Amino acid sequence: QDAIYRPGTLGLTPRVPTDTDALERRARRAMSRRAWAYVAGGAGTGTTVDANRAAFDRWQVVPRVLHGTDRRDLSTTVLGTDLAAPLMLAPVGAAALVAPDADVRIAEGAHTAGIPYVFSSQGGCPMEQTASAMAGTPFWYQLYWSSDEGLVDSMIGRAEAAGAQALVVTLDTTMLGWRTQDLDLGSLPFARGQGIAQYTSDPRFMELVRERLAASTSGGAAGLGLDPRRPLRLARGVAGAAAALLSISRAHPGRTLDNLRSPEPRAAVETFLDIYSNPALSWEHLATLRERTRLPIVLKGVLHEDDARRALDSGVDALVVSNHGGRQVDRSIAALDALVTIREAVGPEATLLLDSGVRTGADLFVALALGADAALLGRPHVYGLALDGAAGVAAVIDAVIAELDLTMGLVGVPDIAGITRELLRPAP
Ligand code: FNR
Repeated sequence: QDAIYRPGTLGLTPRVPTDTDALERRARRAMSRRAWAYVAGGAGTGTTVDANRAAFDRWQVVPRVLHGTDRRDLSTTVLGTDLAAPLMLAPVGAAALVAPDADVRIAEGAHTAGIPYVFSSQGGCPMEQTASAMAGTPFWYQLYWSSDEGLVDSMIGRAEAAGAQALVVTLDTTMLGWRTQDLDLGSLPFARGQGIAQYTSDPRFMELVRERLAASTSGGAAGLGLDPRRPLRLARGVAGAAAALLSISRAHPGRTLDNLRSPEPRAAVETFLDIYSNPALSWEHLATLRERTRLPIVLKGVLHEDDARRALDSGVDALVVSNHGGRQVDRSIAALDALVTIREAVGPEATLLLDSGVRTGADLFVALALGADAALLGRPHVYGLALDGAAGVAAVIDAVIAELDLTMGLVGVPDIAGITRELLRPAP
C-alpha cells in the first residue's frame, strides 16, 4: 500500500496508468494501427470480447468488516509451479508488432514482478532466448499442435530442455478466427514474418523449409506462392539459404524478417502458414501426448463442461478456461460463465485456470471466488509493453496484484484459499 500511494504524495504520476480504460487509450496511441487492430481486435463483431467483460459485471463482492485481516498471503502453487500471486501472463504471439524483442521484454517484466509467463508458439524470439530473460522465474510453454508431428516433438523437446515447467496446448486456434479488423487492414502479422521466430529457430521446421525450397527449384516458383517473375536466387544452394534465414532470425529476433519477397524468408512464411496448426486435431492426437512429454499437460481454450470432463478423465493435468480473449468465435460464451459451469462439472479438486477479460485485481478476486486456481492476463500486459517496455509489463502486473491484495485486506480474506463463492452475490 505504501509503495503504491507514496509516489502520489510527491505529486508523481505513474508512466503506465492504473485505470484500465486509460491504459487502453494510451496504449492505442502508442501503437501502430495494424498493431492495435491485431492486439485489441476480437472475432467478428466483437460480441465475445464484450461478453467476457459483461460476465464479470454480473457478480458482486460482499465485503465483511472488523475482521482484523492486516496480513495477507497471496502465494499459491499450480501444478508444482510456485506463484507469488495467482496470476500468470498469457501467451501472446506476434507481440513483435508492438516492440522489438517483445518476448524478451515481456519475460523481463514478468521476472521483475515475479510471476510466470507462458511463452507462445508464435513468439517473436526463440524460446531459449526468452527463457534466459526469465532469469530463474518459472515459465510454461504454449504449443500450437502442428500438422507436422516431427515439429510437435521438436518443440516439446526444446521447451523441456529450456526449462519450461508445464506444456500448454492451445486447442481453440486450429484455424485463425474471423478477424475483421486485420482482414480489412490486409494485415495478418504472420504473413509479414512476425511471430515465426520460434519456428525459424527450429531444426525440424528448417528441414521443412529446405524441402519446400528444393521442390520450388525442381517444380517452379509459382505453385509455392513465390513471385515467378523474380529469379530464384538459390546460388548459395538450398542448405545455405536456410542457414541464412536462420541467422536472420537469430540476429533480429522479434523483427519482421527482411525482404519477404525473396525466396528463403518467403518459403519460411509459407511453410509456417501451412503447418502451424492442425485443423483435424482430435482426441486421438491428444491420447499420444502423455508419452511425448514429462511435463504437466495443460489444455487451453476449453469452454464446454463435457470437453473439460473428458480431458481430465484422459489424464490431462489442468485446463485453461478461455475463449482466447474473444478472438476466435464471435458470439461465444464468456469465459467466466464457462468457468462456473466447468467447476461445477469437474468438482473442487481439478486444476482450472481462467483467462479472457481479466483486467483488474477485483476481476481476479471474482475469478478465484468462482473456482479458478489462478488467472492469466492477456492484452493488458501487451499494453504495458507498448507504453514502457519491460517496466510497463511489470507495472501492469503489479497493479493487478496490488488491487487483489487490497481487496483481500478490505473484504477480510487472509489467503487465496479463503477466496470463496460465499463472498459473492449475483448482481441484482
Ligand atoms: C493471444 N492469445 C494467444 N493464445 C495462445 O494460446 N497462443 C498465442 O500465440 C496467442 N496469441 C495472442 C496474441 C495476442 C495479441 C492476444 C491479445 C492474445 C490469447 C491469449 O493467450 C489469452 O487467451 C487472451 O489474450 C486472454 O484474454 P484477454 O486477457 O486479452 O482478455
